[in-house]
Amino acid sequence: MRVYSSHKELLKSIKHKLSVGLVPTMGSLHEGHLSLIEKAYSENDEVIVSIYVNPTQFNDKEDLKKYPRNIKEDLKKLNRFENVIVYTPENNDLYQKNESSKQYDFGSFTNLMEGKHRPGHFDGVATIIEKLFKIFNPDNAYFGEKDFQQLLLIKTLTEQLDINTNVVGCDTIREPDGLAMSSRNKLMSDKERKSAKEIIKLLLWAKEVYSKFDFVQIRDEIKNRSKLIDSFKLEYFEIMNLEEFSSISKKNNEIRAFIACRIGNIRLIDNIKL
Ligand code: PAF
Repeated sequence: MRVYSSHKELLKSIKHKLSVGLVPTMGSLHEGHLSLIEKAYSENDEVIVSIYVNPTQFNDKEDLKKYPRNIKEDLKKLNRFENVIVYTPENNDLYQKNESSKQYDFGSFTNLMEGKHRPGHFDGVATIIEKLFKIFNPDNAYFGEKDFQQLLLIKTLTEQLDINTNVVGCDTIREPDGLAMSSRNKLMSDKERKSAKEIIKLLLWAKEVYSKFDFVQIRDEIKNRSKLIDSFKLEYFEIMNLEEFSSISKKNNEIRAFIACRIGNIRLIDNIKL
């Protein structure tokens, strides 16, 4: 394992002819991240894992403060990948002093769901991903489908800016009870964690009845069911036809259900194909 906090030093250590896979993360690595790294290894000569809690994508300062950070544990987990290159920058390796997000226009899909509920979040994600892609020029970059809108956003970013990186979406990895893996999961109390396992049940119920009921009926019932779950506050539930959702997904005839909720103070999202 080679660990660098300076991107310039890291770049010096990569041989030109090798293909590079990038796995951008905010640390607190879990099996979901490790599966992205495994996929990256199966498709590239070199794999770079970036660990950086990007401040510009947090619209809520408290959320940024309490976002879990544990670099020692992360490096331990990465030990299983012998040759992995780890990038652990400080802010000044990526941002100028007082630099804020760039403003992008990726189309109306970025104003829905996460875009609507977390103003500025997507500009922050696009800003850091544009920087990482321009610095490392990876052949492939890997992202989980749990953050499905983020995945579409990054695909749109590379298309708009003519960036040559292939953006690879990977299946959501779940806990045995179905909860999508997320670094935020470890912030929950045992009681909250129990409530969190209901998220996938709501989505699976929607999948089961999708062909029988219309969207409003399904959403109303999801609202009713979510009121019965302890400490659970539904933020949104949506069903989207990807063909109509964004220009980048227009060749995809999938329909997906999306959910965001707060369990206590922890915000969680998930989605499944219907
Ligand atoms: O999904 C995440 O962990 C982050 O949004 C990402 C893609 C690493 C950008 O900071």
